[in-house]
Amino acid sequence: MPRGFLTLSDIAPERWPGLWDRASLLKRERVQRTLAGKSVALVFEKASTRTRVSFEVGVFELGGHAVVISNQGSQLGRGEPLADTARVLSGYCHAIMFRTFGQERVAELAKFASVPVINGLSDQHHPCQVATDLFTVREQLGRTDGLVYAWVGDGNNMATSWIEAAGMFGLELRLACPDGFAPDPALVTQARERGGRISLTRDPREAVAGAHVISTDVWASMGQEAEAARRRVAFAGYCVDTALVQLAAPEAIVLHCLPAHRGEEITADVLDGPRSRAWVQAENRLHVGKAILEHVLESA
Ligand code: CP
Ligand code: NVA
Repeated sequence: MPRGFLTLSDIAPERWPGLWDRASLLKRERVQRTLAGKSVALVFEKASTRTRVSFEVGVFELGGHAVVISNQGSQLGRGEPLADTARVLSGYCHAIMFRTFGQERVAELAKFASVPVINGLSDQHHPCQVATDLFTVREQLGRTDGLVYAWVGDGNNMATSWIEAAGMFGLELRLACPDGFAPDPALVTQARERGGRISLTRDPREAVAGAHVISTDVWASMGQEAEAARRRVAFAGYCVDTALVQLAAPEAIVLHCLPAHRGEEITADVLDGPRSRAWVQAENRLHVGKAILEHVLESA
């Protein structure tokens, strides 16, 4: 079975500095031909702007060809099994990027594909985004270690990938989540055992005090739209606003994977203000996505 990228730890910690260096080079010299003659299927069962466009443009800039399909408009939407889809796409394409609901769907596709599969977001993980966020931290602050990382909000797919990152790289990660929205304790235990210095609190101020990197995300993720109103109540007090950011380290940066809801998880003045790196972070999805594509195709 080819090695894919289903969760962040599918690429070993020692490989990441080289991969991020490659992403920096690809940021400077965007057009390369490392995917010449190769096609990549981009399969979406959920909406996307950044993942869709950065992978499609990225494959083009590497000299390959991207084929975008969604649930609607493909036979997936009419119930063709993932296993059959995986086998068929593997006959045409050299890699498959998949955005879906449960992580078990990513695993199922990867099980039956004979080409590498990249997780472009599931309900449980968003590894391409957190790989990009760490690249952005390295680019903006010059290092990823010796920093305090704060997560404010939902213990969702982004939080899970951050927890995995904390375990892999021995990061200090403080998560502030409301009651009932904390991440899976088993994941936290596992990451702690690997060396992650992870603390959980209900108080965003405690998480952010002295932090160098503050990350947040929407209160209702894709697939949770029906819970949005209830979540707005539960997450009151978990908005990343100027008063909260003032508690962080003087050089602190604010990340948001986007899309954002200004006035909910983050205020407009923070997202559009001087501490925010959300826009370069979004651009970096392109460069890091290309380095991930090259990596999985090299090891295929
Ligand atoms: N951050 C991110 O994955 O954005 P999209 O949902 O637009 O792809
Ligand atoms: N947690 C969000 C991330 C979007 C990029 C979601 O899953 O909708």
